[in-house]
Amino acid sequence: MADLNGRVTIITGAGSGIGRSLVKAFVEAGARVFAVDMSGERLAETAEAVGAPEALATHVADVSDKGPIEAMLAAAAERFGPVEVICNNAGILDRMMPPDEISDDLWDRVLAVNLTGPFLVTRAALPGMIERGGGIFVNTCSIASFLGGRGGVAYTATKHGILGLTRAVAATYGDKGIRCNGIAPGSVKTNIAAGSEPSAAGWALRQKGLATRPPQADPDDIAPTAVFLASDEARYVNGACLVVDAGWSAY
Ligand SMILES: NC(=O)c1ccc[n+]([C@@H]2O[C@H](COP(=O)([O-])OP(=O)(O)OC[C@H]3O[C@@H](n4cnc5c(N)ncnc54)[C@H](O)[C@@H]3O)[C@@H](O)[C@H]2O)c1
Repeated sequence: MADLNGRVTIITGAGSGIGRSLVKAFVEAGARVFAVDMSGERLAETAEAVGAPEALATHVADVSDKGPIEAMLAAAAERFGPVEVICNNAGILDRMMPPDEISDDLWDRVLAVNLTGPFLVTRAALPGMIERGGGIFVNTCSIASFLGGRGGVAYTATKHGILGLTRAVAATYGDKGIRCNGIAPGSVKTNIAAGSEPSAAGWALRQKGLATRPPQADPDDIAPTAVFLASDEARYVNGACLVVDAGWSAY
């Protein structure tokens, strides 16, 4: 595993699934991790699962809420020093709702968490990174960043959107020492679908996708790619989105 050399790293959505695995992998790789989630309970479970090392701090915040974002960055800096890496990972599903069925509320919530959240965190972190001449973003995209049938309309639009955010940040700040890349998991065994039964149309779409789906990943299958992108091994990688799906999107 690459050496993250004490890098101060914020990981959002750290209370479960891929985020929890990112916390574990980043701590193991030597990062100092500021784990953020809207659920304090889940964060406590993550801290317990990782063994609550010195290099880990937890912080409750909803990334879609503009107010607490600056405070989150300030708290991370106070605990560990200026933030060097951000993993914009928090995300939710949309019950695979098709465009003609999705409600305003669900559309707004999925956009707020999956796209506005990463944008707000990124915008707040950039000035410090520009001033210090470096910074790294690893955004959790999805194969729904490239394909139309792996989520509902809001999930697909936001995952295409976060890829656009990733490329825009890379293109705008690459010459300032800032790298911004994505990881695109396929299907991963996490809690993301809990309490979110797919709509009938979404279920039909899902069945089509299942025909070519490789066995689901474990979150630990995904995290090493994020560690790589946050490391100096990836120093020449910028604006990329690395697909980690066992070939699902190759079909
Ligand atoms: N599971 C998959 O198959 C899969 C595939 C591709 C991409 N992804 C992406 O991976 C990321 C993580 O998803 P997961 O599968 O680990 O899901 P998960 O539900 O297991 O974990 C998501 C975590 O994010 C937190 N969260 C949700 N909204 C938040 C908010 N507004 N502010 C802060 N925290 C919030 C939740 O409390 C939860 O702990 C998401 O961006 C998701 O779109 C997942």
